[in-house]
Amino acid sequence: MKETRMNRRQAGKILLGGVGGVVLDFQSSAAAAAFDTWPEFSFLVVTDTHIGYKNGTAAEKRWRNTAAELKDAQGDFVLHLGDLVDRGNETQYPVYTKFRDTIGKPFYEIPGNHDPESLFKQYIDQKIDRSFDHGGVRFLLFNNARTDSHDGFITPEQIAWLKSELEDAATANLRVIVCAHVPFHYNRHPDRGWYVKPDNGQTAFYELIEAHRDRVLAIFHGHFHNGIRGWDDRRPVHEILFPSALYNLDRGLMAKEAPGYNLPEFRPGYVLATFTGGKLILKYHVTGEADDGSIPEKALTW
Ligand SMILES: [Fe+2]
Repeated sequence: MKETRMNRRQAGKILLGGVGGVVLDFQSSAAAAAFDTWPEFSFLVVTDTHIGYKNGTAAEKRWRNTAAELKDAQGDFVLHLGDLVDRGNETQYPVYTKFRDTIGKPFYEIPGNHDPESLFKQYIDQKIDRSFDHGGVRFLLFNNARTDSHDGFITPEQIAWLKSELEDAATANLRVIVCAHVPFHYNRHPDRGWYVKPDNGQTAFYELIEAHRDRVLAIFHGHFHNGIRGWDDRRPVHEILFPSALYNLDRGLMAKEAPGYNLPEFRPGYVLATFTGGKLILKYHVTGEADDGSIPEKALTW
C-alpha cells in the first residue's frame, strides 16, 4: 500500500530544465497520500430502522432486538445511515433513542429521507453535517436526503464543507470514509433509480472525491433496503449500500446483470466492519440468527 502510493507520488513529478532544474509536483498534496500503517479496528453499521413502520410496532421490536445485539457485538462505535423513524413520525424518535441508548457505544446518525431535519436536530443532534476521527480514519457524515424525494441532493455549501474536511484530513494524514443516506452512484432499472442526479450536485461531489481518491476509502449509504449492495467502478473508492435493520428486498439484481455486486442475503440485519490486513471486511449479521457460516461477507480491497 505504502509503496504503491509513494510510487504514484514519484510519478507525479517532472524535472524541467535539465541538471539543477525545477521539480514541479503536479499532484495536489491531498492526492499524494502516503500511509505507514493500515487501520486496525472494528465498527458497526446499521440503517433504515423505520421505527413506526406502517403505524405498527414490528419495527420497534426489531430495533429493540437489533440494539441488544449491537450492545454485545464487538465494534468501537455504531454508524446509523438514516431513516431512523418512518415518515418523520415525531412520536417515534423517543422510541428510537430509548433502545439506542441501551447499546452503550458511541453512536453517529445521519438523517434519511424519512427524517425531517428539524426533528433530527431536536431528538438526535443539533449538528447534522459533522465528522469524527477514529484509528486513523476520518468519518464524514452529512445529510443528502430530503423528505419530499427519493433522490439525493448536495448543496454548494456542503461541497465547500466536505472540501475543507478533506483538506484537513490530508494535513492530518487521515484516510476518509464518507457517509450519506442516498447513493451518488448512477443506478437505473432493475435498480431503484434513486441517486444524486448531476443537476443535484453529483458532478461536483465526484470531482471532489476524485481529487482525494488516494485518501477516500469508501462512500457509505443506506436507503435501498437491498442487503449489501455496492459498486467498485470508481476504485480505489468503493461505494456501498448497507442492509436495512427492518427489511430488505431481493430484487434479483445479479440475475438481471445489474452493475456492481449484491450479496445473496436479504434478511434484516446489520454489518460488522473490520479493518485488517489491508482490507475492510463487511460481515453481514442477520438479527436473531446465529451465523452457521452461510451468511456472506464482502472484503473490500484497495
Ligand atoms: Fe431512505
